[in-house]
Parts: sequence; structure tokens; C-alpha cells
Amino acid sequence: MTYSYSGSSAAISSSSICPWVPTSSELIDSIAKIAMLKSSDVFYDLGCGDGRVIIELAKKYRVRCVGIEIRKELVDDALRSIERNGLKNWVRIIHGDMFKVPISEASVVYMYLLTSINERLKPKLELELKPYTRIVTLDFKIPGWRYVSSLSNGRSWQSTLYLYIRGISDKPQTLPRNYS
Ligand SMILES: C[S@@+](CC[C@H](N)C(=O)[O-])C[C@H]1O[C@@H](n2cnc3c(N)ncnc32)[C@H](O)[C@@H]1O
Repeated sequence: MTYSYSGSSAAISSSSICPWVPTSSELIDSIAKIAMLKSSDVFYDLGCGDGRVIIELAKKYRVRCVGIEIRKELVDDALRSIERNGLKNWVRIIHGDMFKVPISEASVVYMYLLTSINERLKPKLELELKPYTRIVTLDFKIPGWRYVSSLSNGRSWQSTLYLYIRGISDKPQTLPRNYS
């Protein structure tokens, strides 16, 4: 099933702010590993493209996934793929603008976007995500947040995954008591 936010497709597609570059399927296990993915998680992909990350994760790890995508043709590709893989009960696609779609249900958020977009998403992540929600970014950091771990694979691009934790990564670094 697909849900639509922000009105017509024409209005939605005008606010696409990042090109579609799919995550390599070779990274799926690393994403699951750094996110410490468990079957009770709800995994959100902000800007999910053709849904390949969430479809692979749902297939392999039996985790419930939600993808938000602004481009209608990619939403349609994702829906066909979900149907083909028999994952309608596992993967939901929302056709809409990730800045406007509620994400508070997520326990893991994946973002393969750009540093500038991560920066713009920060207030939304801080406002909506529950404490201890894990946020995984590929290649692009969240400016001003501290990642708690990273995983590199030596490739020239799509090389590094960063893990952030809501409530830890977004708080100013605290100095130990009696530190001078
Ligand atoms: C680099 S691609 C990543 C695709 C997918 N997450 C993956 O890793 O395979 C970024 C995606 O974000 C989508 N996007 C850009 N602006 C968006 C917005 N405001 N709301 C939702 N999706 C958006 C693009 O259409 C594109 O599919």
C-alpha cells in the first residue's frame, strides 16, 4: 500500500533535492550490523529510491520497514518490487516529502543523502525521534552531531557508514565531573 503526503505528484516532485543513487546491495549486511538491527525494529529509509535497501532488509532480517520517497516513478518501482517479493506486510512506501512525513515510529533511520540535507533534517530528527533511536548515514555525516561508531569498507565511494544515537549524538559533549 502507498500513502501520499503533500498533495499532487507534480507538487511533490518539484521539491526533490537530492539525486537518486542507490545503495549497493553489498552494504546491506553492514547496515544491519552497524544499526544493531533486531526483528522488533521499525526501519525508516528517508528518500528510499526504488526501495532496494528496505526490501533487502525485510527479506533477509524480517524487520518491518517504511520508505519515504518523493519521486513517483521510484515509488512505483518500489511497489512493484514489494509485490514481486511478497513483502506487502513488511514494507510500506510513503509517497511524500521526508521533511513533512512523520517519522516518530522509527527505531532505526537510514539516510543516504547529502551533508546539507542531513543538516536540514536535524531539527526534525531531534523533535520527532525517540531517545535511543539509531540513525545510520552513508558517506555523509550529520554536521554538529557525534557519531558513536563507523564502519568502512575501503571502497572509493559508498565507503563509510556512520551510526548516531538520538539523545547521545545530538547532545553537547559533557566533560567528566572535576574536569579542569
Ligand atoms: C541518494 S538516493 C538514496 C536512495 C535509497 N535510500 C538507497 O540508499 O538506495 C536519495 C533519494 O532521496 C530522494 N529524495 C530527495 N528529496 C526528497 C524529499 N524531499 N523527500 C523524499 N525523498 C527525497 C531522491 O529522489 C532519491 O531517491
